Amino acid sequence: MSSTRTPESLVGQEYEVEVGPVAHGGHCVARTAEGRVLFVRHALPGERVVARVTEGDSDSRFLRADAVTVLYASKDRVEAPCPFAGPGRCGGCDWQHAKPGAQRRLKADVLTEQLSRLAGLTPEDVNWDGTVEPAPGDKVPAGEVPAWRTRVQYAVDEDGRAGLRRHRSHEVEPIDRCLIAAEGVSELGIEKRQWPQIAGIEAVAATGSGDRQVVLTPRPGGRLPIVELDRPVSVLRVAEGKGRNATRTIHRVHGRPFVRERADGRTWRVGAGGFWQVHPRAAELLVDAVMRGLTPRKGETALDLYCGVGLFAGALADRLGERGAVLGIESAKQAVEDARHNLADFDRVRIEHGKVDQVLPRTGITEADIVVLDPPRAGAGRDTVRTIASLTPRRVAYVACDPAALARDLAYFRDAGYKPRFLRAFDLFPMTHHFECVAILEPAAKGS
Ligand SMILES: C[S@@+](CC[C@H](N)C(=O)[O-])C[C@H]1O[C@@H](n2cnc3c(N)ncnc32)[C@H](O)[C@@H]1O
Repeated sequence: MSSTRTPESLVGQEYEVEVGPVAHGGHCVARTAEGRVLFVRHALPGERVVARVTEGDSDSRFLRADAVTVLYASKDRVEAPCPFAGPGRCGGCDWQHAKPGAQRRLKADVLTEQLSRLAGLTPEDVNWDGTVEPAPGDKVPAGEVPAWRTRVQYAVDEDGRAGLRRHRSHEVEPIDRCLIAAEGVSELGIEKRQWPQIAGIEAVAATGSGDRQVVLTPRPGGRLPIVELDRPVSVLRVAEGKGRNATRTIHRVHGRPFVRERADGRTWRVGAGGFWQVHPRAAELLVDAVMRGLTPRKGETALDLYCGVGLFAGALADRLGERGAVLGIESAKQAVEDARHNLADFDRVRIEHGKVDQVLPRTGITEADIVVLDPPRAGAGRDTVRTIASLTPRRVAYVACDPAALARDLAYFRDAGYKPRFLRAFDLFPMTHHFECVAILEPAAKGS
């Protein structure tokens, strides 16, 4: 007979540990005296801390923990500028307690480690200078915080107070201001109001147009309050469908059902729920990095995979001229409609609706000169990478929001005969563990 032993919860247990290297996800690795692996938040490499377990039991492969006492502090540590940051508090930022330059070094260490572990690549292999570049204007002194977040997802607690979710929790940390929120979001005064019957609020402050939008999710059976904010704003409402195959729809309450973003000399319509980079300088910066890497030539054919509302497709169409052609592929219906609207003045841009792995092999295209892919966090995957390589592009630009997915896909590209020409990394999410990369690839045979 097998014994059914229940694992013992270790939540609340405290361990005094030396903090080791940073790991992907906003924490550092440490080991207890018995050799248990801890992922410790609110710590920095080289510190000695008391770590209190927040998740895990006696059978867990690793435990999650918060540094609750710092016994020996890193020289990179600062007092968190945000009063809502810290163990058990707001989960929005991971590195409030690190100097801005140190945050970028931590992100660079994560990228180096992911490239090495998942693809066997060194910074030299991908021609990366090992730095994570700040966005223009974001190089602030220690203790200051750039206000960059143009899209903020507030949660509302049972008492109707707006706040942000705690780390890996549905609980709400009520706040009176989010320091990383862009001025256009803070000016709405969302945190000052009561939100009875509301479960969530997404606030958007578009770049360059002054458009502001709030998307409200009522509680089940809840009614929409009259929304009075400190600045003019469009209001939309989320309707959650019922049943197994329920879809989430967004309805206009008043104002425009979209915001207008400005980037690369154009105005982009972005419907509610559609993707747009959150940092106000991200779209411009990424277009510049991608175009420098691809060096589009007049008359070439290009693909923009996972194209959203058409940012890179438009930038490419502009540079490829009248004889050039661009095909964009995007799975979100609203984004496809927006991309077609945004790029209606280009005769030779086509936007296909559907998943890249299903649509790309069916397009009938057998060749492309240049390709941009900007997949979601999961990456593109082996099959899509193979399909791209089979089109024999002379260059590929891979825009990545997840270093692990980037590393895996770079390994697939290597198997398919493509090597990195160079890589750049950008800190487009200061105070959090996120960052963005642009890798430019070319056929390995070239110059090797
Ligand atoms: C990181 S965003 C990039 C959007 C665009 N390149 C931009 O910079 O604004 C990824 C986009 O891929 C779309 N998407 C997610 N999975 C997809 C799939 N399997 N096939 C096609 N599009 C997908 C999402 O809807 C989203 O618009």
